[in-house]
Amino acid sequence: MLKKTLVTFASLLLLIGAGCGASVTSNGSVDSMPTPSEQPAPTPAPTSTDTSGSAKTYAMTEVATHKDGTSCWSTINGSVYDLTTWIPQHPGGSQAIAALCGKDGTAAFNGQHGGSAMQENKLATFKIGVLKK
Ligand code: HEM
Repeated sequence: MLKKTLVTFASLLLLIGAGCGASVTSNGSVDSMPTPSEQPAPTPAPTSTDTSGSAKTYAMTEVATHKDGTSCWSTINGSVYDLTTWIPQHPGGSQAIAALCGKDGTAAFNGQHGGSAMQENKLATFKIGVLKK
């Protein structure tokens, strides 16, 4: 009886052992090294080195072609203004503005309104660019 029990127990151990051995398998593949995750692309540095803002530049010869009420440009203190719509609205009269079309209006503007925030703020609304040096 005892012998039979021992034999049975030994058989069980053998079976368990065989099962463990059989579970060791090889799939034959070569594990590749896990690739490091891609680094995110570095944030590009700002490419613009334009320190004058995005102001468009005009030559005086181009300003000079806008010389009447149909298209009236003027340069004042180095900036270029399209004063076409301002001609009929100017409280000081249309002629004061029309006289500046196609020309440099620096002396006329500064002489009348220089240093006045209200007029200078109004003038700024007509700016289209800067005068080419
Ligand atoms: C070119 C751009 C100009 C702008 C944006 C401008 C703007 C203005 C504004 C906003 C006013 C009204 C001021 C108020 O209500 O208190 C004004 C009035 C006047 N402007 Fe001009 N102006 C310009 C050029 C000129 C020029 C070239 C002259 C004369 C040569 C002139 C002569 C006057 C006069 C006599 C008045 C009325 C009196 C006064 O408010 O000073 N303006 N202008």
